Amino acid sequence: MKVVTCIAPVNIAVIKYWGKRDEDLILPINDSISATLSMDHMCAKTTIMCSPDFEDSKFWLNGVEQSLESKRLVNCLQEIKRLASAEPSNAEMLRWNIRICSENNFPTAAGLASSAAGYACLVTALANLYGVKTDLSALARRGSGSACRSIYGGWVQWHMGCNPDGSDSIARVIEPSIHWPEMRILVLVVNDARKKYSSTTGMNRSVATSDLIKHRACNVVPKRVTEMREAIKTKDFNKFAEITMKDSNQFHAIALDTHPPCVYMNDTSHAISDMIHAYNEHKGVNKVAYTFDAGPNACLYLLESEVAEVLSLINECFPSTVAKSDYLRGIPLNIEKSSDDL
Ligand code: ADP
Ligand code: DP6
Ligand code: CO
Repeated sequence: MKVVTCIAPVNIAVIKYWGKRDEDLILPINDSISATLSMDHMCAKTTIMCSPDFEDSKFWLNGVEQSLESKRLVNCLQEIKRLASAEPSNAEMLRWNIRICSENNFPTAAGLASSAAGYACLVTALANLYGVKTDLSALARRGSGSACRSIYGGWVQWHMGCNPDGSDSIARVIEPSIHWPEMRILVLVVNDARKKYSSTTGMNRSVATSDLIKHRACNVVPKRVTEMREAIKTKDFNKFAEITMKDSNQFHAIALDTHPPCVYMNDTSHAISDMIHAYNEHKGVNKVAYTFDAGPNACLYLLESEVAEVLSLINECFPSTVAKSDYLRGIPLNIEKSSDDL
Protein backbone atom coordinates (compact mmCIF):
# COMPACT_ATOMS: atom_id res chain seq x y z
CA MET A 1 0.00 0.00 0.00
CA LYS A 2 1.15 3.53 -0.74
CA VAL A 3 -0.27 6.68 0.92
CA VAL A 4 0.31 10.37 0.21
CA THR A 5 -1.21 13.46 1.82
CA CYS A 6 -0.99 17.00 0.39
CA ILE A 7 -2.42 20.41 1.17
CA ALA A 8 -3.01 23.26 -1.27
CA PRO A 9 -4.33 26.79 -0.67
CA VAL A 10 -6.97 28.87 -2.44
CA ASN A 11 -6.12 31.70 -4.80
CA ILE A 12 -8.19 34.85 -5.27
CA ALA A 13 -8.23 36.39 -8.75
CA VAL A 14 -7.73 40.11 -9.25
CA ILE A 15 -8.29 39.73 -13.02
CA LYS A 16 -11.04 37.17 -13.33
CA TYR A 17 -11.25 34.07 -15.49
CA TRP A 18 -14.78 33.74 -16.80
CA GLY A 19 -15.51 31.80 -19.98
CA LYS A 20 -13.98 28.84 -21.82
CA ARG A 21 -13.16 28.23 -25.45
CA ASP A 22 -12.78 24.47 -24.84
CA GLU A 23 -14.82 22.74 -22.15
CA ASP A 24 -12.99 19.41 -22.13
CA LEU A 25 -9.44 20.83 -22.05
CA ILE A 26 -10.61 23.79 -19.90
CA LEU A 27 -9.08 26.52 -22.05
CA PRO A 28 -10.10 30.08 -21.09
CA ILE A 29 -11.09 33.00 -23.32
CA ASN A 30 -8.81 35.40 -21.41
CA ASP A 31 -5.73 35.50 -19.20
CA SER A 32 -6.27 35.89 -15.45
CA ILE A 33 -4.14 37.00 -12.49
CA SER A 34 -4.42 36.01 -8.83
CA ALA A 35 -2.61 35.79 -5.53
CA THR A 36 -2.28 32.46 -3.76
CA LEU A 37 -3.04 32.67 -0.04
CA SER A 38 -0.87 31.30 2.70
CA MET A 39 -1.41 27.61 3.39
CA ASP A 40 -2.10 28.19 7.09
CA HIS A 41 -5.62 29.42 6.47
CA MET A 42 -7.97 28.29 3.68
CA CYS A 43 -6.86 25.07 2.05
CA ALA A 44 -7.79 21.64 0.77
CA LYS A 45 -6.18 18.55 2.28
CA THR A 46 -6.16 15.36 0.24
CA THR A 47 -5.01 11.86 1.11
CA ILE A 48 -4.71 9.21 -1.60
CA MET A 49 -4.09 5.54 -0.94
CA CYS A 50 -3.49 2.80 -3.45
CA SER A 51 -3.28 -0.88 -2.71
CA PRO A 52 -3.44 -4.20 -4.56
CA ASP A 53 -6.06 -5.20 -1.93
CA PHE A 54 -8.63 -2.53 -2.83
CA GLU A 55 -11.44 -4.13 -4.81
CA ASP A 56 -12.64 -0.81 -6.18
CA SER A 57 -11.76 2.89 -6.23
CA LYS A 58 -13.59 5.46 -4.12
CA PHE A 59 -13.59 9.21 -3.60
CA TRP A 60 -14.88 11.20 -0.62
CA LEU A 61 -15.19 14.98 -0.48
CA ASN A 62 -15.78 16.45 2.98
CA GLY A 63 -16.83 13.00 4.18
CA VAL A 64 -19.42 12.45 1.42
CA GLU A 65 -18.81 9.78 -1.20
CA GLN A 66 -18.59 11.20 -4.73
CA SER A 67 -19.01 9.62 -8.12
CA LEU A 68 -15.81 8.60 -9.84
CA GLU A 69 -17.47 9.22 -13.19
CA SER A 70 -16.86 12.97 -13.12
CA LYS A 71 -15.27 13.91 -16.45
CA ARG A 72 -12.80 16.22 -14.74
CA LEU A 73 -11.63 13.63 -12.25
CA VAL A 74 -11.34 11.05 -15.03
CA ASN A 75 -9.32 13.50 -17.17
CA CYS A 76 -6.91 14.30 -14.31
CA LEU A 77 -6.44 10.64 -13.46
CA GLN A 78 -6.00 9.53 -17.06
CA GLU A 79 -3.47 12.26 -17.83
CA ILE A 80 -1.37 11.55 -14.71
CA LYS A 81 -1.48 7.80 -15.30
CA ARG A 82 -0.42 8.35 -18.92
CA LEU A 83 2.61 10.35 -17.75
CA ALA A 84 3.37 7.84 -14.99
CA SER A 85 3.31 4.90 -17.42
CA ALA A 86 6.49 6.27 -19.04
CA GLU A 87 8.31 4.80 -16.04
CA PRO A 88 8.22 0.97 -16.41
CA SER A 89 8.57 0.36 -12.66
CA ASN A 90 5.14 2.03 -12.17
CA ALA A 91 3.33 -0.60 -14.24
CA GLU A 92 2.11 -2.69 -11.32
CA MET A 93 1.02 0.19 -9.09
CA LEU A 94 -0.91 1.78 -11.96
CA ARG A 95 -3.23 -1.25 -11.94
CA TRP A 96 -4.10 -0.88 -8.23
CA ASN A 97 -7.36 0.75 -7.16
CA ILE A 98 -7.23 4.01 -5.21
CA ARG A 99 -9.04 5.75 -2.35
CA ILE A 100 -9.17 9.55 -2.39
CA CYS A 101 -10.22 11.50 0.67
CA SER A 102 -10.33 15.31 0.45
CA GLU A 103 -11.47 17.97 2.87
CA ASN A 104 -11.68 21.74 2.66
CA ASN A 105 -11.29 23.72 5.89
CA PHE A 106 -13.61 26.45 4.48
CA PRO A 107 -17.01 26.47 2.67
CA THR A 108 -17.17 24.38 -0.51
CA ALA A 109 -18.77 25.77 -3.70
CA ALA A 110 -19.57 29.10 -2.02
CA GLY A 111 -17.43 31.33 -4.22
CA LEU A 112 -14.29 30.96 -2.13
CA ALA A 113 -12.26 29.04 -4.72
CA SER A 114 -12.74 25.51 -3.36
CA SER A 115 -12.36 24.02 -6.85
CA ALA A 116 -8.98 25.79 -7.14
CA ALA A 117 -7.54 24.47 -3.88
CA GLY A 118 -9.30 21.11 -4.35
CA TYR A 119 -7.95 20.21 -7.78
CA ALA A 120 -4.49 21.74 -7.18
CA CYS A 121 -4.31 19.44 -4.17
CA LEU A 122 -5.69 16.41 -5.98
CA VAL A 123 -3.23 16.54 -8.89
CA THR A 124 -0.30 17.24 -6.56
CA ALA A 125 -1.23 14.21 -4.48
CA LEU A 126 -1.69 12.02 -7.57
CA ALA A 127 1.59 13.23 -9.08
CA ASN A 128 3.40 12.43 -5.82
CA LEU A 129 1.75 9.02 -5.60
CA TYR A 130 2.94 8.02 -9.07
CA GLY A 131 6.20 9.98 -9.03
CA VAL A 132 5.19 12.25 -11.92
CA LYS A 133 7.54 15.22 -12.24
CA THR A 134 6.06 17.72 -14.65
CA ASP A 135 4.49 21.18 -14.60
CA LEU A 136 1.37 20.48 -12.57
CA SER A 137 -0.48 23.65 -13.57
CA ALA A 138 -1.68 22.17 -16.89
CA LEU A 139 -2.82 19.03 -15.08
CA ALA A 140 -4.66 20.99 -12.36
CA ARG A 141 -6.36 23.02 -15.11
CA ARG A 142 -8.07 19.83 -16.33
CA GLY A 143 -9.83 19.64 -12.94
CA SER A 144 -10.85 23.29 -12.63
CA GLY A 145 -9.44 26.25 -14.55
CA SER A 146 -8.65 28.36 -11.51
CA ALA A 147 -6.77 25.40 -9.95
CA CYS A 148 -3.81 25.89 -12.29
CA ARG A 149 -2.99 29.12 -10.42
CA SER A 150 -2.98 27.47 -6.95
CA ILE A 151 0.01 25.33 -7.94
CA TYR A 152 2.23 28.37 -7.39
CA GLY A 153 2.51 30.86 -4.54
CA GLY A 154 2.73 34.65 -4.79
CA TRP A 155 1.29 36.53 -7.78
CA VAL A 156 0.35 34.19 -10.59
CA GLN A 157 -0.86 34.64 -14.17
CA TRP A 158 -2.75 31.98 -16.07
CA HIS A 159 -1.75 32.47 -19.70
CA MET A 160 -4.70 31.51 -21.89
CA GLY A 161 -2.33 30.15 -24.55
CA CYS A 162 -3.12 29.58 -28.20
CA ASN A 163 -2.22 25.94 -28.90
CA PRO A 164 -5.33 23.84 -29.68
CA ASP A 165 -4.05 21.05 -27.38
CA GLY A 166 -3.80 23.47 -24.44
CA SER A 167 -0.08 22.82 -23.91
CA ASP A 168 0.64 26.55 -23.45
CA SER A 169 -2.41 27.27 -21.26
CA ILE A 170 -0.44 27.27 -18.03
CA ALA A 171 0.17 29.32 -14.89
CA ARG A 172 3.39 31.22 -14.26
CA VAL A 173 4.61 33.29 -11.29
CA ILE A 174 4.66 37.05 -11.91
CA GLU A 175 6.26 37.87 -8.57
CA PRO A 176 6.88 35.76 -5.45
CA SER A 177 5.17 36.75 -2.19
CA ILE A 178 8.35 38.31 -0.76
CA HIS A 179 8.17 40.96 -3.49
CA TRP A 180 5.23 42.62 -1.65
CA PRO A 181 5.47 41.20 1.90
CA GLU A 182 3.00 43.73 3.38
CA MET A 183 0.10 42.46 1.24
CA ARG A 184 -2.79 40.93 3.21
CA ILE A 185 -6.20 39.46 2.41
CA LEU A 186 -9.34 39.57 4.55
CA VAL A 187 -12.08 37.09 3.68
CA LEU A 188 -15.60 38.11 4.70
CA VAL A 189 -18.06 35.22 4.63
CA VAL A 190 -21.46 36.74 3.81
CA ASN A 191 -23.07 33.36 3.09
CA ASP A 192 -21.36 29.97 3.27
CA ALA A 193 -24.08 28.07 1.38
CA ARG A 194 -23.44 26.42 -2.00
CA LYS A 195 -23.96 28.88 -4.84
CA LYS A 196 -27.09 28.45 -6.98
CA TYR A 197 -25.15 27.88 -10.20
CA SER A 198 -21.61 26.55 -10.22
CA SER A 199 -18.86 28.62 -11.82
CA THR A 200 -18.82 26.11 -14.67
CA THR A 201 -22.54 26.47 -15.39
CA GLY A 202 -22.47 30.24 -14.96
CA MET A 203 -19.56 30.88 -17.29
CA ASN A 204 -20.86 28.52 -19.97
CA ARG A 205 -24.15 30.37 -19.91
CA SER A 206 -22.31 33.72 -20.14
CA VAL A 207 -20.31 32.58 -23.20
CA ALA A 208 -23.54 31.42 -24.85
CA THR A 209 -25.67 34.49 -24.13
CA SER A 210 -23.67 37.58 -23.09
CA ASP A 211 -22.53 40.15 -25.66
CA LEU A 212 -20.43 41.98 -23.07
CA ILE A 213 -18.22 38.96 -22.48
CA LYS A 214 -16.71 39.19 -25.99
CA HIS A 215 -15.86 42.86 -25.45
CA ARG A 216 -14.27 42.01 -22.08
CA ALA A 217 -12.14 39.14 -23.39
CA CYS A 218 -10.93 40.92 -26.54
CA ASN A 219 -10.77 44.61 -25.62
CA VAL A 220 -10.56 44.92 -21.84
CA VAL A 221 -8.59 42.08 -20.25
CA PRO A 222 -5.43 42.21 -22.43
CA LYS A 223 -4.84 45.87 -21.50
CA ARG A 224 -5.79 45.26 -17.87
CA VAL A 225 -3.35 42.34 -17.57
CA THR A 226 -0.49 44.59 -18.71
CA GLU A 227 -1.53 47.32 -16.26
CA MET A 228 -1.99 44.87 -13.40
CA ARG A 229 1.41 43.26 -13.95
CA GLU A 230 2.94 46.74 -13.85
CA ALA A 231 1.02 47.72 -10.67
CA ILE A 232 2.23 44.54 -8.96
CA LYS A 233 5.81 44.95 -10.16
CA THR A 234 5.96 48.59 -8.98
CA LYS A 235 3.88 47.89 -5.83
CA ASP A 236 1.45 50.65 -6.82
CA PHE A 237 -1.41 49.80 -4.41
CA ASN A 238 -3.68 52.61 -5.60
CA LYS A 239 -3.60 51.35 -9.21
CA PHE A 240 -3.70 47.69 -8.13
CA ALA A 241 -6.88 48.39 -6.12
CA GLU A 242 -8.55 50.34 -8.93
CA ILE A 243 -8.02 47.54 -11.47
CA THR A 244 -9.02 44.81 -8.98
CA MET A 245 -12.34 46.49 -8.10
CA LYS A 246 -13.14 47.37 -11.73
CA ASP A 247 -12.45 43.84 -12.85
CA SER A 248 -14.63 42.32 -10.14
CA ASN A 249 -17.45 44.67 -11.11
CA GLN A 250 -17.10 43.90 -14.82
CA PHE A 251 -17.22 40.18 -14.13
CA HIS A 252 -20.47 40.63 -12.14
CA ALA A 253 -21.87 42.90 -14.89
CA ILE A 254 -21.30 40.00 -17.30
CA ALA A 255 -22.91 37.57 -14.88
CA LEU A 256 -25.97 39.87 -14.96
CA ASP A 257 -25.75 40.24 -18.76
CA THR A 258 -26.07 36.44 -18.92
CA HIS A 259 -29.49 35.05 -19.82
CA PRO A 260 -31.01 33.96 -17.49
CA PRO A 261 -28.79 36.13 -15.26
CA CYS A 262 -26.40 34.77 -12.65
CA VAL A 263 -26.85 36.83 -9.50
CA TYR A 264 -23.92 36.12 -7.22
CA MET A 265 -23.60 39.29 -5.10
CA ASN A 266 -26.31 40.17 -2.58
CA ASP A 267 -27.27 43.33 -0.64
CA THR A 268 -24.56 42.73 1.96
CA SER A 269 -21.95 42.31 -0.80
CA HIS A 270 -22.99 45.66 -2.28
CA ALA A 271 -22.95 47.29 1.16
CA ILE A 272 -19.37 46.05 1.66
CA SER A 273 -18.35 47.48 -1.70
CA ASP A 274 -19.99 50.84 -0.82
CA MET A 275 -18.15 50.89 2.50
CA ILE A 276 -14.78 50.29 0.83
CA HIS A 277 -15.39 53.11 -1.65
CA ALA A 278 -16.35 55.46 1.22
CA TYR A 279 -13.20 54.44 3.14
CA ASN A 280 -10.96 55.02 0.13
CA GLU A 281 -12.59 58.37 -0.58
CA HIS A 282 -12.05 59.44 3.02
CA LYS A 283 -8.36 58.47 2.76
CA GLY A 284 -8.00 60.31 -0.57
CA VAL A 285 -6.40 57.25 -2.18
CA ASN A 286 -7.29 53.56 -2.57
CA LYS A 287 -6.24 51.79 0.63
CA VAL A 288 -8.43 48.68 0.24
CA ALA A 289 -9.62 46.68 -2.78
CA TYR A 290 -12.61 44.35 -2.79
CA THR A 291 -13.16 41.47 -5.14
CA PHE A 292 -16.06 39.01 -5.34
CA ASP A 293 -15.89 35.61 -7.02
CA ALA A 294 -18.96 33.68 -8.11
CA GLY A 295 -20.68 34.09 -4.75
CA PRO A 296 -21.62 36.85 -2.27
CA ASN A 297 -18.44 36.62 -0.17
CA ALA A 298 -15.93 39.47 -0.16
CA CYS A 299 -12.16 39.21 -0.41
CA LEU A 300 -10.38 42.40 0.57
CA TYR A 301 -6.81 43.14 -0.46
CA LEU A 302 -4.98 45.68 1.73
CA LEU A 303 -1.59 46.37 3.22
CA GLU A 304 -0.70 45.18 6.72
CA SER A 305 -0.71 48.77 8.03
CA GLU A 306 -4.45 49.09 7.23
CA VAL A 307 -5.62 45.76 8.68
CA ALA A 308 -6.46 46.92 12.24
CA GLU A 309 -8.46 49.96 11.15
CA VAL A 310 -10.40 48.11 8.42
CA LEU A 311 -11.15 45.22 10.77
CA SER A 312 -12.62 47.57 13.38
CA LEU A 313 -14.76 49.20 10.69
CA ILE A 314 -16.00 45.82 9.47
CA ASN A 315 -16.78 44.78 13.05
CA GLU A 316 -18.83 47.92 13.47
CA CYS A 317 -20.70 47.81 10.16
CA PHE A 318 -21.18 44.06 9.55
CA PRO A 319 -21.35 42.28 12.92
CA SER A 320 -23.51 39.39 11.67
CA THR A 321 -21.14 38.78 8.75
CA VAL A 322 -18.15 38.88 11.08
CA ALA A 323 -19.78 36.16 13.18
CA LYS A 324 -19.67 33.82 10.14
CA SER A 325 -16.12 34.67 9.15
CA ASP A 326 -13.39 32.39 10.46
CA TYR A 327 -10.84 33.86 8.06
CA LEU A 328 -11.18 37.51 8.97
CA ARG A 329 -7.53 38.06 9.69
CA GLY A 330 -4.74 39.48 7.62
CA ILE A 331 -3.82 36.46 5.52
CA PRO A 332 -0.46 36.85 3.77
CA LEU A 333 0.41 35.42 0.36
CA ASN A 334 1.92 32.00 0.06
CA ILE A 335 5.55 31.31 -0.66
CA GLU A 336 6.52 30.46 -4.23
CA LYS A 337 5.73 26.75 -4.39
CA SER A 338 2.31 26.32 -2.92
CA SER A 339 1.07 22.76 -3.08
CA ASP A 340 2.68 20.91 -0.26
CA ASP A 341 3.51 17.33 0.42
CA LEU A 342 3.03 16.36 4.05
P1 ADP B 1 -15.90 27.43 -5.79
O1 ADP B 1 -16.31 28.86 -5.93
O2 ADP B 1 -15.89 26.99 -4.37
O3 ADP B 1 -14.61 27.13 -6.51
P2 ADP B 1 -17.09 25.89 -7.94
O4 ADP B 1 -18.50 25.93 -8.42
O5 ADP B 1 -16.08 26.46 -8.87
O6 ADP B 1 -17.06 26.58 -6.51
O7 ADP B 1 -16.62 24.40 -7.67
C1 ADP B 1 -17.14 23.62 -6.64
C2 ADP B 1 -16.85 22.16 -6.96
O8 ADP B 1 -15.43 21.93 -6.95
C3 ADP B 1 -17.39 21.20 -5.95
O9 ADP B 1 -18.77 20.93 -6.16
C4 ADP B 1 -16.51 19.98 -6.22
O10 ADP B 1 -16.96 19.28 -7.37
C5 ADP B 1 -15.17 20.60 -6.56
N1 ADP B 1 -14.32 20.60 -5.36
C6 ADP B 1 -14.34 21.48 -4.32
N2 ADP B 1 -13.44 21.14 -3.39
C7 ADP B 1 -12.82 20.02 -3.83
C8 ADP B 1 -11.80 19.17 -3.31
N3 ADP B 1 -11.21 19.43 -2.13
N4 ADP B 1 -11.43 18.09 -4.03
C9 ADP B 1 -12.00 17.83 -5.23
N5 ADP B 1 -12.96 18.58 -5.77
C10 ADP B 1 -13.38 19.66 -5.09
C1 DP6 C 1 -15.14 33.78 -10.62
O1 DP6 C 1 -12.16 27.69 -12.06
O2 DP6 C 1 -14.20 27.48 -10.61
O3 DP6 C 1 -13.60 32.41 -9.42
O4 DP6 C 1 -12.88 26.01 -14.68
O5 DP6 C 1 -15.34 25.58 -14.69
O6 DP6 C 1 -13.94 24.79 -12.76
P1 DP6 C 1 -14.12 25.83 -13.84
O7 DP6 C 1 -14.41 27.21 -13.08
P2 DP6 C 1 -13.62 27.90 -11.89
O8 DP6 C 1 -13.97 29.45 -12.17
C2 DP6 C 1 -13.48 30.46 -11.36
C3 DP6 C 1 -14.21 31.74 -11.64
C4 DP6 C 1 -13.90 32.88 -10.71
C5 DP6 C 1 -12.76 33.75 -11.24
C6 DP6 C 1 -11.35 33.24 -11.08
O9 DP6 C 1 -11.03 32.52 -10.13
O10 DP6 C 1 -10.52 33.63 -11.93
CO1 CO D 1 -14.26 27.34 -8.56
